[in-house]
Amino acid sequence: MQTNKIYCVDVLKGLRRLKDNSVNCIITSPPYWALRDYGNKNQIGLEDHPQDYINKIVEVMKECKRVIKPTGTIWFNLGDSYYSRCGNEKTNTYLKNHQLPKSVRGKFRSNWLQHKQKLLIQFRIAIKCQDELGLILRNDITWVKQWSDFKDKSSGGRCMPSGVKDRLTTNSEALFFFAKSGKYYFDLDSVRIPYRYKWGSNPKGKNPGDCIMFPLEPNREKHFAMFPSTLPEFCIKAGCPKKGIVLDPFMGSGTTALVCKKLNRNFIGFDLNKDYIKIALRRIKESGN
Ligand SMILES: C[S@@+](CC[C@H](N)C(=O)[O-])C[C@H]1O[C@@H](n2cnc3c(N)ncnc32)[C@H](O)[C@@H]1O
Repeated sequence: MQTNKIYCVDVLKGLRRLKDNSVNCIITSPPYWALRDYGNKNQIGLEDHPQDYINKIVEVMKECKRVIKPTGTIWFNLGDSYYSRCGNEKTNTYLKNHQLPKSVRGKFRSNWLQHKQKLLIQFRIAIKCQDELGLILRNDITWVKQWSDFKDKSSGGRCMPSGVKDRLTTNSEALFFFAKSGKYYFDLDSVRIPYRYKWGSNPKGKNPGDCIMFPLEPNREKHFAMFPSTLPEFCIKAGCPKKGIVLDPFMGSGTTALVCKKLNRNFIGFDLNKDYIKIALRRIKESGN
């Protein structure tokens, strides 16, 4: 496969065409479970049962692990989903045994799938990546879209508006930072930020920590879930050497590719949706990098 191209292909088919140990870094955000319809029958995210979704994403992560170099890293962003299809608030019914996927039917009963339940889907995937794939989780970064300071009664950042009234709005998502082995490429200096107070010890700035604000950016594209450009910028600077190869197996509107061009890295992308690939190619062309 050639670099600096976005292929219109199913994620697993695309990954299986890549050689072992061939990319430096993977930065990606798969579709959420049960939230968006990207208009393709092969899309991931519309499985009836969240466990089927989790299993598919872990299959993708297995291939991701295979294609990154031994020194490579994977930056995996995913927001959570709430369960609401089964039962209603009054009956608060649990998913009946017969509705479970065949693979787990009859094996256990669980209270996991209750109406209104926050599924912790991203953490369930991360745990499977540790347990079954042997990936090494180095950080579970909280991507803050908007913060609130209850003492000062102030807030900052930008997130999607929400009308929810019986819980707090969701202003953050997970960004997992995985390594394939204990010795991996990581350029901390490139992502340091200035100290708040003058007595900081490192002239290059401080370690940004694992709670990082990447505010959503204004967007005129017809894509529902674009990265703000600062998110792939952070991951690329920290995770991929100059002239290295970054793979985004769910490229969408091409934000990862755009930032790769700007930062002198090569990219490979996959997406099922031709219209998104057109948007991505146009954005790359317009950026002039
Ligand atoms: C959350 S979006 C990615 C957005 C991207 N980070 C951006 O900045 O635009 C997920 C993408 O996965 C794509 N997708 C869904 N199922 C897929 C599959 N089976 N193979 C490849 N792409 C898929 C969707 O078309 C969608 O563009």
